[in-house]
Amino acid sequence: MAKAAEKVRTAIVGCGMISNIYIKNMKNLFSIIDLVAISDINRAAAEEKARTYGISRVLTPEEVAASPDIEMVINLTPAYVHYRIIRQMLEAGKHVWTEKVMAVTCREARELCVLASEKGLYLGCAPDTVLGAGLQTARRALDTGMIGTVTSGVAVINRDQTLNSEVFTFLRGNGGTLPYDVGIYYIGALLSLLGPVQSVKAFGAPAPVHAPQFLFRNGGEEPWQIPGSNVLSASLLFRSGALVSVLFDGNTVNASQHILTLFGTMGVLKVGDPNTFDGENTLLLADQKECPLPFTHGYDGKNTLDPSPYDHYGHRGIGAAEMAYAIRQGRPNRLNGAYGLHCLEVLEAMERSASGGETVNCHTVFSIKPLRPGYYSSFLGGSSRADAECSLMDL
Ligand SMILES: NC(=O)c1ccc[n+]([C@@H]2O[C@H](COP(=O)([O-])OP(=O)(O)OC[C@H]3O[C@@H](n4cnc5c(N)ncnc54)[C@H](O)[C@@H]3O)[C@@H](O)[C@H]2O)c1
Repeated sequence: MAKAAEKVRTAIVGCGMISNIYIKNMKNLFSIIDLVAISDINRAAAEEKARTYGISRVLTPEEVAASPDIEMVINLTPAYVHYRIIRQMLEAGKHVWTEKVMAVTCREARELCVLASEKGLYLGCAPDTVLGAGLQTARRALDTGMIGTVTSGVAVINRDQTLNSEVFTFLRGNGGTLPYDVGIYYIGALLSLLGPVQSVKAFGAPAPVHAPQFLFRNGGEEPWQIPGSNVLSASLLFRSGALVSVLFDGNTVNASQHILTLFGTMGVLKVGDPNTFDGENTLLLADQKECPLPFTHGYDGKNTLDPSPYDHYGHRGIGAAEMAYAIRQGRPNRLNGAYGLHCLEVLEAMERSASGGETVNCHTVFSIKPLRPGYYSSFLGGSSRADAECSLMDL
């Protein structure tokens, strides 16, 4: 591909918390993106980001849809709004990258995939941490046979999701349970490492009704209950034959234990935190000391031009940038609709199995090609654009 590919003219819809890192990266890091406008249902929120980051156009979502120059929309609204925004933008002829989860039901996600395909548009979905240095290194370890054939695995994450929903109020709606909000990173990572799931068997428990606990916050609020299973314990049978035990517990404390371990015929791979770009992977072989693996890929989450307390968020938006290159190169994007749909299908299968007691089969498929290794993401301390961007172009 020519070095100076034509930039993809992009608008962001949703100017909340996660938009800061997206806006910074779209403006300063990924050279394939031209961030031309931002939008929020709350115009003041969009205007504030426009002032902070120097973006000239603040539009309503309807104006984004109606703007012929905008080719791609990055959707950063809450999960329960995703379907509506993605549908609106696809119908208007825009390619769409969305934060997770694609929608709150599989039926909606399937509809969006069909619509994108009918209109010949790109659809892409987070979690994009799977394109980060940590998970790409784990994938390389598996692809090069370091632990032989994966026979089984364990994935665990716990938090106090209801307490967290006091601060992050969007968690009180559909898609706000721990499995959908955070478990999705573990599902995305497992899918990117092991491929599609065949069947799911699960047990679950709801979130408790929650009365506000933090002092001095929004006095007088009524108690609420996050809809859906906030605890899910499941067995996943992958098409590869691997059996993975999954535990997502949102009814406990904010002392998070993130475990993602894969057991193979020749070794064990402890995969780093999949909710970051720089999770450290550790290899265990018979008769050997446990050994950390150096990253084989760029995008280690630390190459932000403006390091912040959320440094490990540093490369959010990598999936949108990879999709922008795919658009220009006329090839499929890696984290496409099929991946987002399968993530949801697995989550929904866990919910259905937990409530009905049966084993639930998954039917959709996807495949994710690994990125090419060997690029820097923090050359010159990150003061220049990352060399790692070359890994997003299928040269
Ligand atoms: N906060 C995080 O740490 C984090 C991390 C990774 C991914 N995400 C994902 O990013 C998305 C946004 O999360 P957030 O934390 O920024 O949420 P947020 O609540 O801080 O921001 C969401 C924004 O969307 C706007 N919005 C709501 N409905 C809209 C509509 N119909 N049209 C236009 N704008 C609308 C809201 O006004 C708000 O400004 C979610 O999908 C979340 O799962 C969040």
